[in-house]
Amino acid sequence: MSSLDNGLSTGSAGGPSASAESAAVRVRGVDRVFTSRKAASVTALTGVDLDVAPGEFVSLIGPSGCGKSTLLRLIADLDVPTSGELTVFGKSARQARLDQDYGIAFQQAGLLPWRTVARNIELPLALHKVGKAERKARVDELIELIGLTEFAGSYPDQLSGGMQQRVAIARALAERPRLLLMDEPFGALDEMTRERMQNELARICGETGAAVVFVTHSIPEAVFLSDRVVVMSPRPGRIVQVVPVRLPGTTRDDALREDASFFEAVAAVREALHGTPPSGARGVENR
Ligand SMILES: Nc1ncnc2c1ncn2[C@@H]1O[C@H](COP(=O)(O)OP(=O)(O)OP(=O)(O)O)[C@@H](O)[C@H]1O
Ligand SMILES: [Mg+2]
Repeated sequence: MSSLDNGLSTGSAGGPSASAESAAVRVRGVDRVFTSRKAASVTALTGVDLDVAPGEFVSLIGPSGCGKSTLLRLIADLDVPTSGELTVFGKSARQARLDQDYGIAFQQAGLLPWRTVARNIELPLALHKVGKAERKARVDELIELIGLTEFAGSYPDQLSGGMQQRVAIARALAERPRLLLMDEPFGALDEMTRERMQNELARICGETGAAVVFVTHSIPEAVFLSDRVVVMSPRPGRIVQVVPVRLPGTTRDDALREDASFFEAVAAVREALHGTPPSGARGVENR
């Protein structure tokens, strides 16, 4: 049975378990309007409802300026909604931030230029007073994961943009958070590294059971990684469709990238994004 026959259609924005306590992220009726004295106000988000279950991988996809980063920043308590409610593991976004319930990797790597690669990755562990030996073991493991062992002692300005981004991802993973908020974390990577990092992220999420809210412009990336893909409209950003893509028990590895179900899901997301059926172009890359 193909994935399309298997309920690959518009889903509700609510996750499988939607009570505030059990949801990793719960967003209800959220609007964000930016106002300034000099310019007209901008409605970045309107009426957004979304639940992300523990361990669930949800991608946000939509045209530039539709409010994806804004939504992620609201969840991370880097900004506050104009109206509506938002909880993270049943707490206010602010409390979840104070409790360090999530790791963040955003569009810009945001590394500290005066700290080496190893010491950037180590930072969250050092802030939480993790012992030296444990810290070193974890940092070594993460540096190997991102393939930068030779660069452990380098400074961020000695790395390429993609390498810096990999360090930021390692830093986000350092404390094995139960929620990861990622904003186009692989945008600066070459295609091969990107696919390798996608495989690694899928493996890590499988192992740690972390929930992920992941912003991307790549349909194949969203489909490969996600349980559900949230499709947003041009500004003012709204959720127009939620496409469930992952079949239960699917292993996310290179074989999946060539599977018919993968191409069907790519087409379904593409259709939701463009609002029209795809013109017979199966597996089209829309990066
Ligand atoms: N701090 C801010 N002040 C004023 N307007 C803002 C602010 N942050 C975002 N906006 C506006 O909100 C809208 C949504 O921006 P946002 O960065 O969330 O888009 P996005 O979907 O992440 O786009 P992209 O795919 O290009 O990263 C844009 O019109 C942007 O100009
Ligand atoms: Mg953005």
